[in-house]
Amino acid sequence: MASYMNCFTFLQTISLVYFLITLTCTSGSYLSHDEECSALFQFKQNMIHQDDVDCAASWFQANNASDSGFGCCSWYGVECSNDHRYGHVVGLDLSERSLCGHINSTSTLFSLVHLQSLNLAMNNFDESQIPSEIAHLKKLRSLNLSYSGFTGQIPAEISQLHQLSSLDLSRNSQQLESTRGFNNLVKNLTRLEELHLSGVDISSSLPHFLANFSSLRLLTLQECSLLNAFPAAILELPKLKILNLAYNDNLTGSFPKFRNISLLEVMILDFTGFFGILPESISKHLIILSVSGCSFSGRIPGSISNMTQLVYLGLGENNFTGFVPSLVSLSKLSYLELDGSTFEKGCLPSWLGKLTQLNKVYLSNMSINGEIPPFLANLTKLSDVEMANNSLTGNIPPSFFNFTQLTNLDLRQNKLQGKISKSFSKFKGIRYLSLTSNNFSGNVGLHMFLRLDKLVTLQLSYNRISLVATNNYTNFTLPELEDLELSSCNLKEFPAFFRFQNSLNVLLLDRNKIEGMVLVWIWNNSRETLQLIDLSKNFITGFHQHPHVLPWRQVEGFLMTNNQLRGQLPIPSKTTVSYLVSNNNLTGEIPPLICELEFLRLLDMSSNNMSGPLPPCLGRLSSSLVGLNLRQNNFHGIMMNAFMHGSLLKSIDLSENGFTSQLKVLSLGDNSFDDVFPFWLTLPKLRILIFRSNKFYGPIQGSTTVCSQFPNLRIIDLSNNIFTGRLHQKYFQACIAMNSIHVGILSHLSVMKSKVSSEVVSVELPYSMKLIHKCYGTGS
Ligand SMILES: *[C@@H]1O[C@H](CO)[C@@H](O)[C@H](O)[C@H]1NC(C)=O
Ligand SMILES: *[C@@H]1O[C@H](CO)[C@@H](O)[C@H](O)[C@H]1NC(C)=O
Ligand SMILES: *[C@@H]1O[C@H](CO)[C@@H](O)[C@H](O)[C@H]1NC(C)=O
Ligand SMILES: *[C@@H]1O[C@H](CO)[C@@H](O)[C@H](O)[C@H]1NC(C)=O
Ligand SMILES: *[C@@H]1O[C@H](CO)[C@@H](O)[C@H](O)[C@H]1NC(C)=O
Ligand SMILES: *[C@@H]1O[C@H](CO)[C@@H](O)[C@H](O)[C@H]1NC(C)=O
Ligand SMILES: *[C@@H]1O[C@H](CO)[C@@H](O)[C@H](O)[C@H]1NC(C)=O
Ligand SMILES: *[C@@H]1O[C@H](CO)[C@@H](O)[C@H](O)[C@H]1NC(C)=O
Ligand SMILES: *[C@@H]1O[C@H](CO)[C@@H](O)[C@H](O)[C@H]1NC(C)=O
Ligand SMILES: *[C@@H]1O[C@H](CO)[C@@H](O)[C@H](O)[C@H]1NC(C)=O
Ligand SMILES: *[C@@H]1O[C@H](CO)[C@@H](O)[C@H](O)[C@H]1NC(C)=O
Ligand SMILES: *[C@@H]1O[C@H](CO)[C@@H](O)[C@H](O)[C@H]1NC(C)=O
Repeated sequence: MASYMNCFTFLQTISLVYFLITLTCTSGSYLSHDEECSALFQFKQNMIHQDDVDCAASWFQANNASDSGFGCCSWYGVECSNDHRYGHVVGLDLSERSLCGHINSTSTLFSLVHLQSLNLAMNNFDESQIPSEIAHLKKLRSLNLSYSGFTGQIPAEISQLHQLSSLDLSRNSQQLESTRGFNNLVKNLTRLEELHLSGVDISSSLPHFLANFSSLRLLTLQECSLLNAFPAAILELPKLKILNLAYNDNLTGSFPKFRNISLLEVMILDFTGFFGILPESISKHLIILSVSGCSFSGRIPGSISNMTQLVYLGLGENNFTGFVPSLVSLSKLSYLELDGSTFEKGCLPSWLGKLTQLNKVYLSNMSINGEIPPFLANLTKLSDVEMANNSLTGNIPPSFFNFTQLTNLDLRQNKLQGKISKSFSKFKGIRYLSLTSNNFSGNVGLHMFLRLDKLVTLQLSYNRISLVATNNYTNFTLPELEDLELSSCNLKEFPAFFRFQNSLNVLLLDRNKIEGMVLVWIWNNSRETLQLIDLSKNFITGFHQHPHVLPWRQVEGFLMTNNQLRGQLPIPSKTTVSYLVSNNNLTGEIPPLICELEFLRLLDMSSNNMSGPLPPCLGRLSSSLVGLNLRQNNFHGIMMNAFMHGSLLKSIDLSENGFTSQLKVLSLGDNSFDDVFPFWLTLPKLRILIFRSNKFYGPIQGSTTVCSQFPNLRIIDLSNNIFTGRLHQKYFQACIAMNSIHVGILSHLSVMKSKVSSEVVSVELPYSMKLIHKCYGTGS
C-alpha cells in the first residue's frame, strides 16, 4: 500500500510538470496519446476535495497500480481508438466511480477532444454547474451526466455538440434558461436518438420541430414542468420506441389515429393532462403502457387484449367508460392497475386467474362486488394487492393465505366479514396491511401481527373487532411500525408493545375505551418521528408526570377531543398545525406558551372549563390560524380585535363565554372566512362590523335582527361574500343607531335582477353569484 501511494505522489509530480510543458507546447493543436493520458491523470488529481478526500479513489482502485502510468488505455473506463496502446482516448465511462468535487472550466478533461463518449453519471459533483467548456468535446456522440449532482443552468453550448446521438442529463437539479432554453438546446442536435432530461426544469412547451428528429428512439422527459400541448406528431416518429412524459401536470395532449405501424414499446404518461381516447391503433408492441392519473375518457381500447407483450399496464384514475376488456391473453402481465374503471359483471373476472405472472394488482375504487374468488390462488407471484373502496363481501378465503410473499395488502373500505384469521401471521414479508372499514368481527390477538417483523403500516380501524393485547413483548421480536391505526377497536388500555415503538409517524387510537393516564413510556417514545396522534373519544384523564410541553418534536396533529382531561391545557410542540382538545374538563387559563405554535391552523378548545382572559400574545397566531373555537368555556375579559385583523381565519366561534366585550370595531374584511354569518355573536358596544371580501355563505338573516346582536351598530359591510337567501329590510329596522347614521352598506347583486325598494329589500342572492358592494341609505 505504501509503495502504491509513493508511486502516485511521484507520478503526480512528474505528470504535472510534464503536463504543463506539453500543454504550453502544444496549445492550439491536438494532444498526443501521452498528453491525453497526462490530462486524464491530471483530471484525476484535481478530483481531490478539501479535507483530502480522494474523490476518484474508486476509479483508481479499479486500475492496476502497475498500469497506472501513461498507458492509460488500460485504465478502468478508458477506451482508446484503434490501437489499444497509442490511440486517442475516445471513450470515458466513469459512472459510479465516487467522483466528487467540482469540474471547473480549466479542467484537463476538456482537452480530450477525441472523446466520442463521456459518461460521468452517478457521481457527486456537489451542486456545481456543468462547465460550458464541455462544448470543446466536439466529437461527442454520447454524453451522460445523469444522477451526478450538477445544478444550475444547463450550458447552452451543449447545443454545439452536433454529433450527439445520446444526451442524458436526467436527475440533476438543473433548469433551462428562459422558455426558449429547450429549443435552443436541442434545435441543432438533429441526430439525437436518445434524449433524457427527466427532472430538468424545462418550464416550456415542447417544440414541434422535435417531430422532425427522425432518428429519435428514446425520449424521457419525466417531471420537467412541461407546459401546453404535446406535439402529437412526435408520437408518429417512425423509430420512437420509448416515450416517458410522466409527472408533467401542466402538459396536455391527445393521441392521433396512428397512420403508420407504431413501434412504441414503452409509453409512460402518468399524471399528465393527456385526454381524449386511447386509440385502438395505439401499438401492438407495447411492453409498458402507463397512463394513470390522466384524463383519458371513452372506452378502454379492445386492442389492449391483443398486446401480448404487455408486462406493465397502468390505466388507473382516468375517466374511462364502459368495461375493462378481457386481458386473458396478456400472459406476461406482471403489473396491472385499473383503479376507477369497472368490470363487466361487477365481480372479479375469471380471466384474472390466468394471469399467473401477476405481481402487483391495483383494483381500488372499481365497485367490485361479490366474494374474493378462489381462482386468485393461481396468482402465486402476487406481492401487492390493493382492492380498497369496493364492495367485496364474505370471508377472506383460506387460499388467500397462500400468498406468503405479499408485501402490501390493502382491503380497506369493503364489506368483508368474519374473523380476522390467525393465518395473517403467514404473511412474513408484509410491510403494509390495511383492513380498515370492513365488517370483521370477534376478538383479535394483536400479537399475531407483531410477529411480522417487516410490518411498517398496520390499519385495523373501524371494524367490529376487539383487540386483545398481551404484555410479554420483548424489544427485538417486534416490527418497527410507522403507521398504526387502531381506531374503534375496543382497546381498553395502551398496548404494552408501544414501549418499544420508536419510529411511529401516525398513531390513531381514537374511539376506544382507553382509561386513565397516558403513561410516561408512551409519550416518551417516537419523540422524533410522531406527526399525528389521535386519542379522541376515550376516557383518558391526563398525562402521567404532566410535562410542560408534550415531547413529540415533529407533531402536526394533536387530537384529544372527548376525553376526561383535567387541569391545565397540555401544550404540544411548536410544529403543531391542528390542536383539538374540545369536550374535556380542562381548567385554568390558556398558557401563553401556546402563542409559540407558529404553524397552528386549527385550534379547538371548546367545551371545557377554561377561564381567564385570552393571553394577549394570542394575536401572534393570527397569521397562521384558520379556525378558532373557544365556545363553551368561561373565558372573559376583552376580546382582542387584533386577533382577527388581516388573518387567514375562516371560522371563529367564541360563543358561550363571558366575554364582556368592549369591542367597538370588528373588521374581518379581506380575509378568507368561509363560514356562515355568526348569529351567535353578541357585541353590545360594536359600532362597525366589516365582513367585506370573505367567503361567508348562507343566509344573513337568522332568527334575530342584526341589531339584537349589535345594538350600537352604525356601519355594516357584508359585500363581496357569497351570502344567499332573502334579506328583509326589517332586519335592519330596529337599529336606531344605524338609522341615524345613513351609512349602511349592503351586498348587492352585480346582475341587477333584484327588486330594491325603500319598503322591502328583497335581494335574491344565488349561491356563488359574484357580488359587488353598493352604498345603501336607509332613507332613500
Ligand atoms: C480549477 O480547479 C483547479 C484544481 O482544483 C484549481 O487549481 C483552479 O484554481 C480552479 N480554477 C478556477 C477558475 O476555479
Ligand atoms: C492487473 O494486472 C494483472 C497482471 O498484469 C492482470 O492479470 C489483471 O487482469 C489486471 N487487472 C485488471 C483489473 O486490469
Ligand atoms: C447513463 O449512465 C447511467 C449509469 O451508468 C445509466 O444507468 C444510464 O442508462 C445511462 N444513460 C444512457 C442514455 O445510456
Ligand atoms: C444551429 O446551427 C445554425 C447553423 O449551423 C446556427 O446558425 C445556429 O446558431 C445554431 N443554433 C444554435 C442554438 O446553436
Ligand atoms: C401548473 O400550472 C399551475 C397554474 O398555472 C401552477 O400553479 C402549477 O405550479 C403548475 N404545476 C407545475 C407542476 O408546473
Ligand atoms: C373526470 O371525471 C371526474 C369525476 O367524475 C371529473 O371531475 C372530471 O372533470 C373528469 N375529467 C374529464 C377530463 O372528463
Ligand atoms: C386481435 O387480433 C386478432 C388477430 O390478429 C384479430 O382478429 C382481432 O380482431 C383483434 N382484436 C382486437 C380487439 O383488436
Ligand atoms: C391457473 O393457471 C393455470 C395455468 O398456469 C391455468 O391452466 C388454470 O386454468 C388456471 N386456473 C384458473 C382457475 O384460472
Ligand atoms: C396452498 O399451498 C399449498 C402448498 O403450496 C397447497 O397444498 C394448497 O393446496 C394451497 N391451498 C390453496 C387453497 O390453494
Ligand atoms: C406472549 O403471550 C402470548 C399469549 O399468551 C403467547 O402466544 C406468546 O407466545 C407469548 N410471547 C412470548 C414472546 O412469550
Ligand atoms: C429496542 O432496540 C433498539 C435497537 O435494537 C434500541 O435502540 C432501543 O433502545 C430498544 N428499546 C428499548 C425500550 O429497549
Ligand atoms: C371536571 O372537573 C371538576 C374539578 O376539577 C369536577 O368537579 C367535575 O366533576 C369534572 N367534570 C367532569 C365531567 O368530569
